[in-house]
Amino acid sequence: MQVIILSSAHDVAVYAADRVVDVINTKKNPVLGLATGSTPIALYEELVARHHSRQVSFRQTVSFNLDEYIGIADSHEQSYRTFMNQHLFNAIDIMPTNTHVPLAQSKEVAVLKKSAQDYEASIQQAGGIDLQILGIGLNGHIGFNEPTSSFASRTRIKTLSESTVAANKRFFKAGEYQPELALTMGIGTILDSRAVLLMATGKAKAEAVKAMIEGPISAMCPASALQLHEAATIVLDEEAASLLALKEYYQWCELKRQQLHEGSLI
Ligand code: F6R
Repeated sequence: MQVIILSSAHDVAVYAADRVVDVINTKKNPVLGLATGSTPIALYEELVARHHSRQVSFRQTVSFNLDEYIGIADSHEQSYRTFMNQHLFNAIDIMPTNTHVPLAQSKEVAVLKKSAQDYEASIQQAGGIDLQILGIGLNGHIGFNEPTSSFASRTRIKTLSESTVAANKRFFKAGEYQPELALTMGIGTILDSRAVLLMATGKAKAEAVKAMIEGPISAMCPASALQLHEAATIVLDEEAASLLALKEYYQWCELKRQQLHEGSLI
């Protein structure tokens, strides 16, 4: 894993935006995997700003989001489709038909299972994901792959853990229906991406970040599966990195990587 520790959440967003723009500018038909949640909001703001200053166009970009709540309408205030439209898609020039968020409105299992299979097929048809953006849950989840999810899992119906339901309660009004199921890409789906970039900021994520990078590879920490990916970058602010035992070593590695890039290693 490439572990990058930056001084602020803003720097994390700028780094992630650089990576996204690099994919868009170097691939003919770029395919991005996108995440929702609080963490990538700053990344999306940065991408919108770069689009407005004409530094990047998303005309040729295809996107696939990680997950969607089951049983609420696409147009619901808290659906991940609404989140993506508000924070990114409506503010850039991506073709709406090129944006994919799992279709999870139905309450019928057969319809949802078919939707999950179709989602996997659409990713394949698009040529696979070039760069998957990820956040990490307090319990180490990626997408909605909760602890004990199989590392071989594909897009499917997933029951949210108590901790995830509690963490996301803040987004729902008192008394409002809050979904307890989601349609999520599987860990196997995520591992198939050509590169992954996980962003984590803030002290609350420090335990999960430590388990992901320095803990054993274990289904109890789904994000630890990224240790098996050959092109996984973890970009952290100081607070999220605060519990890492080998923090100085990761910073040393980055220095060496930069020197190598500049051709001045020795
Ligand atoms: C969102 C997602 C989740 C979040 C995670 C962190 O699409 O898949 O895994 O990335 O729950 O959420 P925040 O960023 O709100 O802490």
